[in-house]
Amino acid sequence: YILNILSHYHLIVCFVVPMATGMSLTLCFLTLRHKRPKGRYIIWPRIDQKSCFKAMITAGFEPVVVENILEGDELRTDMEAVERKVQELGAENILCVHSTTSCFAPRVPDRLEELATMSAKYDIPHVVNNAYGVQSSKCMHLIQQGARVGRIDAFVQSLDKNFMVPVGGAIIAGFNESFIQEISRMYPGRASASPSLDVLITLLTLGASGYRKLLAEQKEMYTYLAQELKRLAAAHGERLLHTPHNPISLAMSLDGLQTQSSKSVTQLGSMLFTRQVSGARVVALGNKQMVSGHMFCGFMSHSEAYPHPYLNAASAVGITRDDVTLCIKRLDKCLKSLRKESSTRSGSPLPLTGQEDHAGE
Ligand SMILES: *Cc1c(COP(=O)(O)O)cnc(C)c1O
Ligand SMILES: *[C@@H]1O[C@H](CO)[C@@H](O)[C@H](O)[C@H]1NC(C)=O
Repeated sequence: YILNILSHYHLIVCFVVPMATGMSLTLCFLTLRHKRPKGRYIIWPRIDQKSCFKAMITAGFEPVVVENILEGDELRTDMEAVERKVQELGAENILCVHSTTSCFAPRVPDRLEELATMSAKYDIPHVVNNAYGVQSSKCMHLIQQGARVGRIDAFVQSLDKNFMVPVGGAIIAGFNESFIQEISRMYPGRASASPSLDVLITLLTLGASGYRKLLAEQKEMYTYLAQELKRLAAAHGERLLHTPHNPISLAMSLDGLQTQSSKSVTQLGSMLFTRQVSGARVVALGNKQMVSGHMFCGFMSHSEAYPHPYLNAASAVGITRDDVTLCIKRLDKCLKSLRKESSTRSGSPLPLTGQEDHAGE
């Protein structure tokens, strides 16, 4: 049935795994270990999402973090830096290239065609993290093109992010049936059938046309959200960052808020959190975070020095017009009250409630 949903992407083989995306990526890396006994490194264009980083560490490999380059407002794959790393480390010492399609703006999907071409040239496997990319024809097209011009060995997508089922399942897919079977045989022991059952029930309820309708609505809501965010940004002296290559996530600058007080940016994050605007997240500048022994400067922003603090909003599958309207309304309220607070405040620090780190969750 899932194959049917993905039917215009030819020759895809896939199976449902009763584990979330991160662990499913781990399973792919562990399967590659047998084919690449010298492979120690995984080349990874940086994306600030903990579980995909941990997926490589858990599998026992050394992630080689390649910083993105800034093009306009967008953060994009630095192909020269990737190739330099491959040459420096030696292709045979590299387990695979680990790229990403769906991600928070202002990062955009990796240059999959170029990465796939390079992987073919150096004979290095290529695994794609397509966490919430099934809902985007752009992400799926990138994968298809990558596989056509170069090499993509496996791509992994979350069940909950694409099919509105509970967390705990993923689809591992690829173009080579025997390789995908090898991955499925790596799974140790018996497995829970509930993720498969959940997705089966959901898809039978929706039908292929129902699912396609949801995807069409996602696209429409993306345009609506972009328009509304642009209007909101203008009203608050900010701007919608120009990230046309990202089909799901948007970002609005918070430069003015930062100038007002750097604490205001963090405070906006906690205000949104307590007002249950869970679709929005705030990224302040200069966060440092240690993840499994690796220090990420500028953590959450996919970059060591992104020039603007910003706010993310996403139009994911299942979002409605009312969701967007309500989100914008609450955002507007929060931004207004922060401005008012700062104009009446006499230099005392803003009270902070604990903002939890919900990056990518
Ligand atoms: C959701 C997500 C993951 C994986 O998270 P899991 O909790 O393991 O499903 C990895 N990368 C990105 C970009 C994601 O959005
Ligand atoms: C497909 O996968 C099998 C098993 O891993 C491998 O031996 C074979 O070379 C692969 N075929 C292609 C065309 O890559």
